[in-house]
Amino acid sequence: MRTVTPLTAGWEFHADFSNDLIAQPKAGASVRLPHNAVDLDMNYFDERSFQKEFGYQYTLAWQPGFAGKEVALQFDGAMANTVVWLNGHQVASHKDGYTPFKARLTDYLQEGNNLLTVKVDGSENPEIPPFGGQIDYLTYAGIYRDVWLQVTDPVSIANLKIETSNELSDAKGVTVKGFLANPTGLAFSGTALVELCTVEGAVLQQQTVAVDADGFSTSFEQLAGLQLWELDSPALYLVRATLASSAGSDQLSARFGFRTARFTTEGFSLNGKPLKIRGLNRHQSFPYVGYAMGRRAQQKDADVLKEVLKCNLVRTSHYPQSSYFLDRCDEIGLLVFEEIPGWQHIGGAAWKDESVENVRRMVERDWNHPSIILWGVRINESQDDHEFYTRTNAMAHGLDSTRQTGGVRYIENSELLEDVYTVNDFCHVATPEWMRGQPPAPLRPPRYVTGLDKDVPYLVTEFNGHMFPTKRIDPEVRQAEHVTRYLDVLNKAYGNPQIAGSIGWCMFDYNTHKDFGAGDRICHHGVMDIFREPKFAAFAYASQCAPQEQVVLEPVTYWARGEKDRCEALPLIVLTNCDYLEFQFGSFPAIRIEPDRAQYPHLPHAPVVIDSRHVDPQELGAWGMQWMDGRLTGYVDGKPVKQVLLSGNPLATTLEVQADSSELIAHEKDAVRFIVRALDQHGRVLPFLDDVVSLQVSGGAKLLGPAALAFKGGVAGFWVESTGERCDSVVTVSTQRLGQHTTTLTTC
Ligand code: GAL
Repeated sequence: MRTVTPLTAGWEFHADFSNDLIAQPKAGASVRLPHNAVDLDMNYFDERSFQKEFGYQYTLAWQPGFAGKEVALQFDGAMANTVVWLNGHQVASHKDGYTPFKARLTDYLQEGNNLLTVKVDGSENPEIPPFGGQIDYLTYAGIYRDVWLQVTDPVSIANLKIETSNELSDAKGVTVKGFLANPTGLAFSGTALVELCTVEGAVLQQQTVAVDADGFSTSFEQLAGLQLWELDSPALYLVRATLASSAGSDQLSARFGFRTARFTTEGFSLNGKPLKIRGLNRHQSFPYVGYAMGRRAQQKDADVLKEVLKCNLVRTSHYPQSSYFLDRCDEIGLLVFEEIPGWQHIGGAAWKDESVENVRRMVERDWNHPSIILWGVRINESQDDHEFYTRTNAMAHGLDSTRQTGGVRYIENSELLEDVYTVNDFCHVATPEWMRGQPPAPLRPPRYVTGLDKDVPYLVTEFNGHMFPTKRIDPEVRQAEHVTRYLDVLNKAYGNPQIAGSIGWCMFDYNTHKDFGAGDRICHHGVMDIFREPKFAAFAYASQCAPQEQVVLEPVTYWARGEKDRCEALPLIVLTNCDYLEFQFGSFPAIRIEPDRAQYPHLPHAPVVIDSRHVDPQELGAWGMQWMDGRLTGYVDGKPVKQVLLSGNPLATTLEVQADSSELIAHEKDAVRFIVRALDQHGRVLPFLDDVVSLQVSGGAKLLGPAALAFKGGVAGFWVESTGERCDSVVTVSTQRLGQHTTTLTTC
């Protein structure tokens, strides 16, 4: 049987790689994995700082259990070009920063200490996708995902592929294919026990099948009483395979789910039911530490997409993302469109070969995730390339006949080699020549974009983004337009049954190269800021959920007499899923206002837009007249369900500190996010409060980023990370005006 052990601690990091590290242990900086080779400032950094070679060393002590076994390291991901040596012998190299790879140690292991040396080159090497042109994101450097020590018998199970059939019936089927690892080509005979289990591991059915050099395969049929993987009840099952052979035994499990997912000319359907895709794009980056965040932070992003933003899909722009993230999507019911690394640029022959391999690596790593419904097999926003994309499509289809392919383009009349025409449509107001006279509208008609004289499955994979970058601290007027642009596109996508849905650019602000963003090395394109704190636009998404799930009532306002030009308070957009609102200004009588279904007929929940149709602007006063409180009350089924008070006299009264967890795991590189908010007496963020926030962390945690921050738009964010020390941590947040707040994180 295998043992798999995370190699989290004990690595020596060398900021400069040199060849003498290959065979000689040298003291470096002690680090834990995942590790970011060069931490960056929040903004205005020099992104060339990590574009070089770094070294890692690990001393692996011989264990009696290695004798007669296969010993390997599994790297979940290292950026971007990695070479691994054991005791001076090269044992692996990998030219992709986003997919896992193995380093087989068996042949060079010796009794006593074994020196592992890893060279990680963070250069933007034009030979490796996505490099060779400009890219609007950073790739960072280092062993930024986990590394596992795997000890198996000489023959073991390399991978499982689980496919389902008749999912919608009560006679479901499951096919299991087992692939073997037999690195020394041993002759053997044996059997595999294949168990179909609940996700907790209780056996539902089992079969024993013969194993040969090609592995094993079997199927279960006529399965009754099993649940579908649905967005609101994502039932998961497990296949456990146990190998018993003359060359060794092994056990490997993989989770899967029963669901159908299909894009047609009538849109998308999950389990045979139409579902309008409402998604956001996600990069896998975090401030300061780049990609190097462990399990909790990855899971949290999935949770934020599902629970805070109420999305039903995420696109892993523009590369395969952490397995922790994808596992979480499976668990919570969040669909995924996953794609290969790349950004506009297509390289030469070797580059394309590597890219085709990236398709293989992505599909083989992720084919069992029920959340993944589409493989992205084009370089994001690249030009057509018949031969190249014929190969990437064939690779995906050859490995996985159950999923459709897409490939994100922005060009019109692009050759459709994929199953779904996936397109970035940034034309928010541009109206094609032949549509002159029509109201300007976002989202061009699909046939106009595809240039085809027939309908094809069609999904909008990006919109907004750089066309209307908006910071969380931007003026209210700009935020309101940001919100409106999201609502306009969502409304349009909901209104056209042929469009499967839309995926906005993007979930949160991200660090980028000098050639993009606001000069500060940040693309302020998110509906959330870099700490995943919502901008108003986040509520354009959130408010589309049913009020039974969560009542949303978010006025897009800083509620101040003089924030907007001419001291106007209207129009006031209220993002809500309530049936109607009551709005009251000061002591004026409350007025009832319905959602603006005329402007947004297709949205599940149109916003309420309060303007001169409902309120005499004079009533809200004018410059020099008294400014008063506002009160919004949301009604569902005739009952008041939520109230928001807007202070006409906001004062800085409250320091709110919110931690994503009260526990920190010591044995993993675990990180907990903190959000600090300066609030007024009604609990609304004070948008222009920019006092200093001092942070102190003691115990088994350390702070990521600086210990003194400024509130930005009344909010500050940071993560604390476990050091490995098994003791509780205390996080103290201090401000001069709002006092101090202490949080204890229990170590577990
Ligand atoms: C797209 C691109 C994204 C991002 C976005 C900004 O063209 O695919 O990666 O750069 O623009 O709006």
